[in-house]
Amino acid sequence: MRHLIDPTDLSKTETEEIVNLALDIIGNRDKYSEVCKGKKLATLFYEPSTRTRLSFTSAMMELGGNVLGFSDAMSSSVSKGETVADTTKVINCFADIIAMRHSVEGAPLVSALNSRTPVINAGDGSHAHPTQTLTDLLTIKRELGRLDNLTIGFCGDLKFGRTVHSLIKALSKFSGINVILIAPEELRLPGYMKHEVCDKLGVPYREVESLEEVINDLDVLYMTRVQKERFLDEEEYDRVKDCFVLTADKLENAKPEMRILHPLPRVNEISVDVDSDPRAAYFRQVENGKFVRMALILKLLEWASQPEHDRELIGDDVIVGKHHCSNPKCISNTEPHAVKPMFRPSADGNGLRCVYCEHRPAK
Ligand code: CP
Repeated sequence: MRHLIDPTDLSKTETEEIVNLALDIIGNRDKYSEVCKGKKLATLFYEPSTRTRLSFTSAMMELGGNVLGFSDAMSSSVSKGETVADTTKVINCFADIIAMRHSVEGAPLVSALNSRTPVINAGDGSHAHPTQTLTDLLTIKRELGRLDNLTIGFCGDLKFGRTVHSLIKALSKFSGINVILIAPEELRLPGYMKHEVCDKLGVPYREVESLEEVINDLDVLYMTRVQKERFLDEEEYDRVKDCFVLTADKLENAKPEMRILHPLPRVNEISVDVDSDPRAAYFRQVENGKFVRMALILKLLEWASQPEHDRELIGDDVIVGKHHCSNPKCISNTEPHAVKPMFRPSADGNGLRCVYCEHRPAK
């Protein structure tokens, strides 16, 4: 079976296939209007969403399929204590493909490990958001005509920003990528992303604390919201919540062809006076999310019937049950009775990483 849990589950060729299929869908809407007739998508959203859930729904409807699911897990039997694994086995009886969002990191992986149908990670905690990444790649391709030779500035909450982590992983497959990380010290990109993704895969990066000093270098400015819901300490959130606010006057030195992306929702990090600037691509980005999810659903359903596309989810180098994860928001800690802790050697050869959330073992 083939799933999409992390951007690294797709090769560069497969990523480009999905982006190119989305471009074909955009140009030939009628051709795809019945290709999923009789198929059902289950959207299991344990965490709030507007864009991701409704774009999945709209995508399946435009393909001629149907959609079922929940947008409030407390209205489902999750409220009675049902595990992610059991919920998945139940949904397998009703749907051909699953899109899952969860605040608990690793929940979509646990779902995939227990599923007879493809599972798509629609965002798990601060960890990963691979379908936002496909949305971002399609947007960059449509706006700038290329996915290589890009200088991209990530600005804001790079610590908890799952969209940032996933996009950096995906861009690492392309050539000529330069990353500029624009964040206060408290919100810097996690160490594993810098050392085990950027350093290991040869993506040059530099860290700065001022947007103004780099804005004229950028082909893409990727703004992010400071995510209140991820902070354990509200005082820390208050200290950093207004760290970057993009206003129209700050764009004076930016290239005319630079594009501003944001996964949305925004709070105050992009002033509304930027919306009318032609470089502001974030609402066009939302629509691209529907087209790329149409392409992804089609590809995963196609690959599900082609054994040559099967891919191991966790490999055979894992250590099971010997350590505990240090991340309280990891599914191995929130569902300890149902999920065995699993670790694999970290990419830099220095210790172990949790299979579900990429954190270190607890000491
Ligand atoms: N970009 C994104 O994931 O938005 P939602 O939280 O509204 O789905």
